[in-house]
Amino acid sequence: MNDRSSSSLSTPGARASSRGNSPTTASKSGLPALLMEEAARPSLMDENLVLFKGTANPGLAEAVARHLGLPLGQAMVTRFSNGETRVKIEENVRGAEVFVIQPTCGNVNDSIMELLIMVDALSRASARSICAVIPYYGYAKQEKKTSGREPISAKLVANLITTAGADRVITIDLHAAAIQGFFDIPVDNLVALPLLANYFQARGIVNSDLVVVSPDAGGVARARGLAERLGARLAIIFKRRPEPDQADVIEVVGEIEGRTALVVDDMISTGGTLVRGVETLIERGVKKVYAAATHAILAGNATRIIENSPIEELVITDTVPLPEEARRLKKLTVLSVAPLLGETIRRNYFNLSVSKLFD
Ligand code: R5P
Repeated sequence: MNDRSSSSLSTPGARASSRGNSPTTASKSGLPALLMEEAARPSLMDENLVLFKGTANPGLAEAVARHLGLPLGQAMVTRFSNGETRVKIEENVRGAEVFVIQPTCGNVNDSIMELLIMVDALSRASARSICAVIPYYGYAKQEKKTSGREPISAKLVANLITTAGADRVITIDLHAAAIQGFFDIPVDNLVALPLLANYFQARGIVNSDLVVVSPDAGGVARARGLAERLGARLAIIFKRRPEPDQADVIEVVGEIEGRTALVVDDMISTGGTLVRGVETLIERGVKKVYAAATHAILAGNATRIIENSPIEELVITDTVPLPEEARRLKKLTVLSVAPLLGETIRRNYFNLSVSKLFD
């Protein structure tokens, strides 16, 4: 595994309740140059902003805190012996603008419940506003009924988060952008595309031979966005799912023979969509395949089938923690979304444009 996560600053100090305006601020790895003026950034230590982490991806929350130069807020998050989640906020948050970083991954139901309970605790502790920072939104694939008598679980989760007391949500690459509309509070749905595009540009694989491939019809907008950024061609794989968690390729549309392909997806769960797609591309004359995805869930045998696949390199982000066996994958590169999240939190706090990050 190649880790391209960025490190940054951290200094201790007290928090106060003053709030000012901030200049356009900094970032790393894939964010525009106008945001690179680190030196111009005022410290957040004297601001009324508090970051908390849940237990789903503490490493990412710590990296965000380092990026912002803030300590994480003190909270106890454990389990009662009967399995219930136990939360206690261990510092004053009265009147504070609070951000809780908790992707709803791993044990998805526990992660969601933990987020809800933390938001409830912060709301009852009189936080002025609570932003749920959910880098990976679990249940996102259940965003519509595909047959009768099915739930719309992604909407149910949105209702729960709002009811618990969240005032805002920050997330990355929602499986379907329309999930933003499941909330009646503001949602910043960030995209990892610039991060991935910059990486592949720097990697030197971008040339007139490159074709960006969507592994299914649902991912075409994402693949087209990457193809446009890289000045590459676009191809689309059509797949079907004979049953849940199984993927079959039906057809490939686009010129692929003799080219280098870059398959891009929002998430890799069982790895079936990606690996079936890559095998088909090779069978149809693609000479080399790279792959990229924002959320590397890597459930079940995913790591093994990716390792044994003809993929040259798989580039992912750290929205969810990597399973242990995936850390040994030599063809894996991890890019950190911590600067992107940190910058978005800063911009939310100072009421600055977030879309400017993607100009
Ligand atoms: C599906 O619509 C998604 O965009 C991904 O392609 C899918 O979730 C990947 O799942 P798996 O790795 O289990 O095939």
